[in-house]
Amino acid sequence: MQMPPSTELAQNFVWPLPVEACASNDLDAFLRKLEAVAARRGFRRESLGEAFGTPLWLLTREPPGRDRPSLLIAAGFHGEEPAGPWAVLRFLDQCDEALLDTARLGVLPLVNASGFSAGQRHNAADENPNRGFAPDEDGIAPSAEGRLLLACADRIAALGRDGVLACHEDALLDCAYVYVNESGAHPGSFGKALRDANARYFPLHPDGSVDGCPIRDGIVFNHRDSSFESWLMRLGAARSACIETPGQASIERRILAQVEMIATFVRVCATGDALGEARARRPGRT
Ligand code: NI
Repeated sequence: MQMPPSTELAQNFVWPLPVEACASNDLDAFLRKLEAVAARRGFRRESLGEAFGTPLWLLTREPPGRDRPSLLIAAGFHGEEPAGPWAVLRFLDQCDEALLDTARLGVLPLVNASGFSAGQRHNAADENPNRGFAPDEDGIAPSAEGRLLLACADRIAALGRDGVLACHEDALLDCAYVYVNESGAHPGSFGKALRDANARYFPLHPDGSVDGCPIRDGIVFNHRDSSFESWLMRLGAARSACIETPGQASIERRILAQVEMIATFVRVCATGDALGEARARRPGRT
């Protein structure tokens, strides 16, 4: 999520993907694979509207049974951070049916398609699609993609009621970290599980500051801004996180780390202690 210097913003961030057999910015290949995997895994696919000629796709899946937590996974806000969208695709392709069935899943697999295609951070209008969700925080207006999401804010908030995961990368770093938002005074099992999963693949960012935020033990805790993950906390999400893999590491390792963090997110929110905390705060839910 760190903002590169202006000279870096003009750089194109594109990697060959050996497993997917295409380039990391191959939008047509990505959308083709997404449509196939969504159909095969029983996801409903709908467009929330178009930004710069490409639909902003939302996938949803209703598991059998009742009282499943509602979890939202979102990726591809920044075009120079392709491991997130490709990891979402791989997770949907490979995830155990039993894990999929533990939650009502909402997935925004690629928010900023124009940036993804260009291998650049911002969208085609040079807007930051992960800012502007709460303009009173920093005065930033929403992006074209943000306006589509804000237009269905109630629905997005309901999809992420029990947990929100935003998949990002830090293009200029060779170490990893996570932004975590939780109701307690300190990071709980949710944030620590995501941090620990990231640390299985990369060294953690040292204590101090990252992108102007205090960081300790690989976690930036309860930072407020106008980002998607911070906005959904304001709308009542039980918890949210923004995971950051290092753009200077191998793309395949970054995708593997993101897949593991997505699976960890679903598992901890659906079956772990973190859900117990959420239930305790919500009398009447079983
Ligand atoms: Ni980012």
